[in-house]
Amino acid sequence: MNLEKNVPLQPYNTFGIAAKALALVRVRDENDLRAVLTDPQLATMPRQVLGGGSNIVLTGDVKALVLKIEVQGLRLASETDKHWVVEAGAGVGWHDLVAWTLDNGYPGLENLALIPGSVGASPVQNIGAYGVELQDRFDSLDAMDLLTGELFSLNAAQCGFGYRDSVFKHAAGPDGLGLAGRAVILRVRFALPKRWKPELGYADLERKMSESANHTPDARQIFDWVCAIRRAKLPDPQVIGNAGSFFKNPTVTTEQCADIIARDPKVVHYHLDDGRIKLAAGWLIDSCGWKGKTVGHAGVYEKQALVLVNKGGRENPCTGGEVMTLAKAIQTSVYERFGILLEPEPVVI
Ligand code: EPU
Repeated sequence: MNLEKNVPLQPYNTFGIAAKALALVRVRDENDLRAVLTDPQLATMPRQVLGGGSNIVLTGDVKALVLKIEVQGLRLASETDKHWVVEAGAGVGWHDLVAWTLDNGYPGLENLALIPGSVGASPVQNIGAYGVELQDRFDSLDAMDLLTGELFSLNAAQCGFGYRDSVFKHAAGPDGLGLAGRAVILRVRFALPKRWKPELGYADLERKMSESANHTPDARQIFDWVCAIRRAKLPDPQVIGNAGSFFKNPTVTTEQCADIIARDPKVVHYHLDDGRIKLAAGWLIDSCGWKGKTVGHAGVYEKQALVLVNKGGRENPCTGGEVMTLAKAIQTSVYERFGILLEPEPVVI
């Protein structure tokens, strides 16, 4: 284990915000974590787990000990009649995993192509895109309990997945279920179906299919379409810093939705299986006129109002404070117009 001091975090967060970690340890396997837990000086420090840094807003230097998860490894762990079970280290880049599975003939993750971030962060917020969520392909994961130093595994039910939600986002409550700040994910396994079916229900993908001559796409074709859709509409964090969707899409009752439709009949909404209705947060923000607006060097992306971006690049990056001021102003304006309080997606540190 190697303790590094005053480590610049700008390369390690996709917003490109400049901040330092006062102390940082790179975790390449469970032994690195055990070494932290048994080190007399480090064991008592508060800790901050850092994955791909694609879902965080840094509002200052991080005083907690940063555990930067760099566990590598990609392999076919096992197979059943129905599934290939692929295992990836938490430090593997998410998109690298998706590309590797397709290169090796294990389809199923293609709709999740190009999502920034690491494999280890993917279950935390149950990433999703174009009609597929991580929980649809999840098998199990291995993690370490930072309180006891024990390794444990969780299946899908134990992860408590919800929309951009899991047990890893919740503090331990009276039910004892929350694992936020307590569990470090080391490896994740995915069950990829041998009888693969294309998932084409999402409007953007339907459009791609009807525009193309190919009406029986394979997984590679869907991967290419998803990459093209994302590149057209979402900023590449290598070029323009961002943390993906900044707010969750809110769900409302049919009565609340009727009230909003009365205010603006064009509101984009989708009916969920449980009778509730999901509203497109991007549309709500867009219709309040936020596209292109800025606070300091933080701005609202011109092509997708749900994404906040760093307009100052690496040289003059926005601060976390500017991002949060902009986010709060957006929340207030959407609340005043539609009576909906948008919930941020990224973790504010
Ligand atoms: N819209 C607008 N104006 C905007 C943005 C969106 O009118 O500025 C409208 C669009 O026209 C569309 C609707 O809102 O009718 C939904 O937009 P989009 O299809 O872009 O999807 P989204 O709901 O904004 C969600 C996920 C994305 C994911 C896409 C595709 C959330 C919070 N976001 O975005 O995930 O890639 O669907 O499945 O659920 C992420 O979480 O970081 C992320 C990028």
